[in-house]
Amino acid sequence: MRVTINQIMAMKGSEPIVMITAYDYSMAALVDAAGIPMILVGDSMGMVVLGYDSTLPVTLEDVIHHTKAVMRGAKNALVVADMPFMSFQVSIEEAVRNAGRLMKETGCQAVKLEGGEMMADTVAAIVRCGIPVMGHIGLTPQSVNVFGGFRVQGKTEDSAAQLIRDAQALEEAGAFAIVLELVPQELAGFITERIGIPTIGIGAGPQCDGQVQVLHDMLGLLGEYLPRHAKRFGEIGTAITEALTAYAAAVRDRSFPTAKHSSKLDPKVLARLKAADADDDGPTPNLSPA
Ligand code: KIV
Repeated sequence: MRVTINQIMAMKGSEPIVMITAYDYSMAALVDAAGIPMILVGDSMGMVVLGYDSTLPVTLEDVIHHTKAVMRGAKNALVVADMPFMSFQVSIEEAVRNAGRLMKETGCQAVKLEGGEMMADTVAAIVRCGIPVMGHIGLTPQSVNVFGGFRVQGKTEDSAAQLIRDAQALEEAGAFAIVLELVPQELAGFITERIGIPTIGIGAGPQCDGQVQVLHDMLGLLGEYLPRHAKRFGEIGTAITEALTAYAAAVRDRSFPTAKHSSKLDPKVLARLKAADADDDGPTPNLSPA
């Protein structure tokens, strides 16, 4: 049985909520096997899977493609698909249409979109259509050019007060949870106490109701770089490089493949081929399939 929105909301105040990003079938299956209840198909895919230097180039088609793969891999986790840059900002109508496409075409259970008070009407309109929405405030990476970099938000009284209003507006609009990204931990704790829906932190400290991390950061899949808010829980990138180096060496020294990894030709067929070859002055018979 897939985890439901109600189950996630009921975890507030009773158990920490674990969320992780995933972008493909095999990783989603591994996340599911670890018993993690919520997967975000984040537009961070732009940076960690597609190699862009921001999330801005990610398209709705990219998110649909990757969310379908995640849905095939994860049978238990609740899957949230991220609404990419310019898929919800132009008009409420377009936002509703695109949120609907994400849900209809992928089978995901919810969408996430960036923005607080200013996006509340959009969130409410999407929720009215029966599509659960996760909010996202603090450092919202789609606005990186407005922020002038990936910086902690809410450090001044004014910006902290705005983030509190943002969280309240999203709750009133019907969001079922809110991501707090790069927000001082005391502020995240304050917001978590003030609202009735779960807060999911990333770089927002331990007082949030749950935590989300980017899979590639915590598994060490992107070299040495580790953002301050992330922690390595595995060195899978190093393990992959070691395995690939061993594979290349085995091919080069001919220790792989062995007979064990190959199929056998009936000796009678081989004998006939060799006999035909010896009788024939012409070219060697072509053994490849027609
Ligand atoms: O796209 C993403 O992975 C996200 C998380 C960082 C919350 O939005």
